[in-house]
Amino acid sequence: MRKPILAGNWKMFKTVSQALSFVEHLQDLAEDAPQQVDTVICAPFTSIYALNQLLEDSSIKLAAQNLHQAEEGAYTGEVSALMIKDVGCTYVIIGHSERRQYFGETDDSVNQKVHAAFKHGLLPIICVGEDLDQRNQGITKQLVEEQVRAALSAVKADDVPRLVIAYEPIWAIGTGKTATAQDANEVCAHIRQVVGDMYGKEKGDLVRIQYGGSVKPENIEELMLQPDIDGALVGGASLDPGSFAKLLKGAL
Ligand code: G3P
Repeated sequence: MRKPILAGNWKMFKTVSQALSFVEHLQDLAEDAPQQVDTVICAPFTSIYALNQLLEDSSIKLAAQNLHQAEEGAYTGEVSALMIKDVGCTYVIIGHSERRQYFGETDDSVNQKVHAAFKHGLLPIICVGEDLDQRNQGITKQLVEEQVRAALSAVKADDVPRLVIAYEPIWAIGTGKTATAQDANEVCAHIRQVVGDMYGKEKGDLVRIQYGGSVKPENIEELMLQPDIDGALVGGASLDPGSFAKLLKGAL
């Protein structure tokens, strides 16, 4: 019912030539996979325009890793929703834990960015997740629920099926530690329930929920078998085309 979605978040890696070479290799390796799995590359801003030229006839979609919520203005160093749409993005990551941790993003700014994305026809991938301390305190579900409710504040019901939520426990990002597939599913199921509670079960059932945090070719299949996990948001293992092609196979 929900089409799987695999997104590679390159973070601050790859020059333009490295990005183009990645896509050429990936297209050789995984020609047929993107039909059955929505495939997304979340590239640095600097590579998006060139990648979009190369991907013109491809079903691989592009995402930015952030946007600024204002339409335009004197915000030195920032990039707007209109600008990233203009260079070919379909999706945009919003509220990644690294943005929350290092760049002061809050639940409120995440919400404003979600509105800016929808206004310009971008599909937001909203990131939520707890740190180790919060997990040990047993407040994971409560925290994630607060993040989801805040991110979706005043979002129209019609937009809900277009959004993607990525559950990324912070302690699992780049650490090699993955939540067990069952634990990850339990939180993803809770997120779905929260969306259902806000907008009705039918809408909750339509939202795609990804897991992120040390996903690799070896563990993606088990994660994808879980009923409430519809895809993965992958960092490190998405940087190599061979590994990305294996992730795509695992996501089928
Ligand atoms: O957004 C993806 C991410 O934060 C997970 O990174 O390297 O643990 O797959 P990684």
